[in-house]
Amino acid sequence: MILRLTIAGFPVRPELAQTLEGVRRDSRFSRSRIEIGDGGLAGAIEHYRANATPQVLIVEEVGDETVLQSRLAQLSEVCVAGTQVVVVGRMNDIATYRRLLSLGIGDYLVGPVTPAQLAASIETLFADPSAAPKGRLIAFIGTRGGVGSSTLAHNTAWMLSRPAGEEVIVVDLDLAFGTLGLAFNVEARQTVGELLSEPERIDAQLIDRVLVRAEDQLQLLPSPGMTGTWPPVDVEAVDKLLELLRRMAPLVVVDLPHLWAPWIAHVLEMAEEAVIVSSPDLPGLRDAKALLDTLASRRNGKEPARLVINKADLFRKTQLSAKDFEEALKQKPALKIPFDPIFAEALNEGQMVGKTARTHKLVDQLAALAQLLAPRHHGPTARSEWSLDRLAGWLKRLKPAVR
Ligand SMILES: Nc1ncnc2c1ncn2[C@@H]1O[C@H](COP(=O)(O)OP(=O)(O)OP(=O)(O)O)[C@@H](O)[C@H]1O
Ligand SMILES: [Mg+2]
Repeated sequence: MILRLTIAGFPVRPELAQTLEGVRRDSRFSRSRIEIGDGGLAGAIEHYRANATPQVLIVEEVGDETVLQSRLAQLSEVCVAGTQVVVVGRMNDIATYRRLLSLGIGDYLVGPVTPAQLAASIETLFADPSAAPKGRLIAFIGTRGGVGSSTLAHNTAWMLSRPAGEEVIVVDLDLAFGTLGLAFNVEARQTVGELLSEPERIDAQLIDRVLVRAEDQLQLLPSPGMTGTWPPVDVEAVDKLLELLRRMAPLVVVDLPHLWAPWIAHVLEMAEEAVIVSSPDLPGLRDAKALLDTLASRRNGKEPARLVINKADLFRKTQLSAKDFEEALKQKPALKIPFDPIFAEALNEGQMVGKTARTHKLVDQLAALAQLLAPRHHGPTARSEWSLDRLAGWLKRLKPAVR
């Protein structure tokens, strides 16, 4: 099994640092990103106050059980839910092991550990394919052609992948007229249309070959502008592709064409975030309403689709305001982005706005959109599942023994 994971290790002792280096060299982890910090569990707590957590966190603690417990409680406050935590400790005690596992810690290993032991531990965490972490799907669609839905999808994806951000894959599902390759100035290796026309061939290896890396943490699946002939797009093929992509990156941004078809409705229904981009005019308002109404009943248990008004203030006198949209749709637009030539300039350069014009006033707005769609769960409000409440209960139960 080749694992595609983001892994971070926080050793205290040089032995564990060497072990992590060993796992890095292991071919099963060739597709994983393994970062090595320092300072052990305490170092990890400090680090994740300000950084996004990886999928797997390996922390060493050389203190006693009381120290371990209290630090795990602190770690849980800064960690995203779902992070798998492997603790390397010094207590060789089955009771400690069981208690940690019952709290939701992924595994507890007694140091020193060999690369093989650590690799096996991580592999076991993801042995069941359904246990593999699933990336967050963020889909963009425009109410009309040309409203800027692709532009916002690309710029948001870029923002999400920035330092301290996460691995992001953008897939261009505008099969015939996609602009993803142009926007990032990259050549497609194979079109998404071709991939979807032979769903039985789609697997992780094929996708790996087709993905184009645009930036350190950003990979693309472009659809170069070409009107080849493909069979109609099949919902199951799209599902298969997106499921695989979600296993390859924690964030998958989908750029949808301005079309209405069963597969498009399906993507908008299943995405964790659906973003409807509209121009500030009457047709945009009508179609935003139609889309929001349709999706309201279909996105069960998910965040309601969000509305972004784009290309605002070009015709101030005649445009509909954000308030007009809010009154008609009973939903406040998440964001209003003005018409600004910087988008065309960036496109001409094959760059994202945040890269080519770092200090431009729109960069903050694009960052805000990224943050809204994939919040980085930092601070005390973001407890992870394995964490505080259960740990507090455990601490309470242990108190007499500790005294
Ligand atoms: N806020 C903006 N201000 C000015 N120009 C913009 C803005 N947003 C997007 N554009 C420009 O509008 C054009 C169309 O954008 P884009 O291709 O993103 O729209 P779309 O909704 O994806 O269109 P399509 O229907 O072809 O998929 C591009 O040239 C882009 O640079
Ligand atoms: Mg588009």
